[in-house]
Amino acid sequence: MAGVSSLLGDWAVSLHLSAIDTARWRATGYLHDALRENHPETLRLKLPSGLRILPPDMLHGPAVAERLRLEGILDDELLGAVTYHSIGHESLNGLGRALYSADFLEPGRMIKVEWCERLRARMPEELNDVTTEIVAARITYSIEHGLQLFPETVGFWDALVNGL
Ligand SMILES: [Fe+2]
Repeated sequence: MAGVSSLLGDWAVSLHLSAIDTARWRATGYLHDALRENHPETLRLKLPSGLRILPPDMLHGPAVAERLRLEGILDDELLGAVTYHSIGHESLNGLGRALYSADFLEPGRMIKVEWCERLRARMPEELNDVTTEIVAARITYSIEHGLQLFPETVGFWDALVNGL
């Protein structure tokens, strides 16, 4: 989480975001996986019905967002970014796209290292293009491995390629 947070903080600074927004971006990176170690079925029970159908490894984002809402956080952009960081969503904008990408590109990851380095070098200036490439790679992986595509992911793809 520290790696994702520091990446998001660096990008926010590069984009000349305000001090408050830079803190929001860093905080989102710190918080997004806060419940990843909790048992998925315990998390599932605390989610709105529409999100309970997600597979076990995608429940922690929505669960963190629910917890933050209960704590009084009303920042819809931050909550949406956390909720959909694993699966994507058409509503994800700057922060949501940055978290989705940072989660994939954080330096500690050991998959596709050189490709990730090249994508990181293009951030944050090419946020939309880099996010599009990551979504394409993840959809391709799902298709090649016979895995389900989620409507949220397809909606995210459509939003990106339609320039939304
Ligand atoms: Fe996560």
